[in-house]
Parts: sequence; C-alpha cells; structure tokens
Amino acid sequence: MAEGRLEAVRERVDADLEKLPNLWARRCGYVHLYGVSETAVLLAARRGLDTELAAVAGMLHDLATYKTGDPTGHAQASSHLARELLAEIGSFSQNEIELIATAIAHHSTKEKLHGPFDELLKDADVLQHRLHQARTDAPSTASRFHALVDELAFQ
Ligand SMILES: [Fe+2]
Repeated sequence: MAEGRLEAVRERVDADLEKLPNLWARRCGYVHLYGVSETAVLLAARRGLDTELAAVAGMLHDLATYKTGDPTGHAQASSHLARELLAEIGSFSQNEIELIATAIAHHSTKEKLHGPFDELLKDADVLQHRLHQARTDAPSTASRFHALVDELAFQ
C-alpha cells in the first residue's frame, strides 16, 4: 500500500466511490476526481503553488455530488466533507485544511475571481472536463479553457 497523506485521502475517496451502485457512476467518480487531482498538479507546478495540496483539493472537490447523487449545493457540501475528512486523517494543518476547503467552496463560482489556489481548482476542473469530453466547449467555461491552452502552450 502506498503511504502518505495524499494516498490516505485517495483511500477514503475510493471507499466512498466503491459504494456507488453501478459501474457508470463509479467510472464518472474515478475519472473526474483523479483527473482533476492530476490537472491540479499540472497547474500548481506551472503556477508555483503546492502540488500536494492541489492534488488533495482535486480529489475532494466534488465528493458530495458522488456520495449523494445530487449536485445541488455540492461545492459547500463537498467543502464541509473535506474539512471533516482532512481533520480525521490528522496530518493536515488547520491552514492547509482552510486553503483546501475554501477552494472547494468557491469552485462552482467560475464567473468570479478568487485567490490563486481557488482559481487553480476551478481551472483544473474545467481542464479535466474539457479533456474528457474531447470536443464540447461549454460556453460558460470556454474562455477559461482557451486561457489554459495559452498558459500551458510550449513557447
Ligand atoms: Fe468537478
């Protein structure tokens, strides 16, 4: 078994996703949460932010949606779950928990600008959705995605 606090978070998320009733729901959860965790690491490395905390935020950012099957109010609900889960794991400082929980609470508000870590999570979410869909570009997030393509382009 891999060690470390990121792995501890992933084991907790896996345990929740395993309870989902069908393969489709489990696949959506694994692909999106692990995917956002990885796009968050990419953006954190690019922007000089903490890659481990970015990975953790990605893993937890939509957890309430998958646990309840209902996306209503999921940013706040997932933020609350993240606080509980990270406190239970016990190896995250209060500042780290605050940073992650705040970013999760803000992540659905993509039309507004928040702090660098909040924006990182929003952009990671947009990037994973767009990479996974391959072709669609939701009008509400198209400008974020195109800015990300510019940001990540080799120069
Ligand atoms: Fe998401």
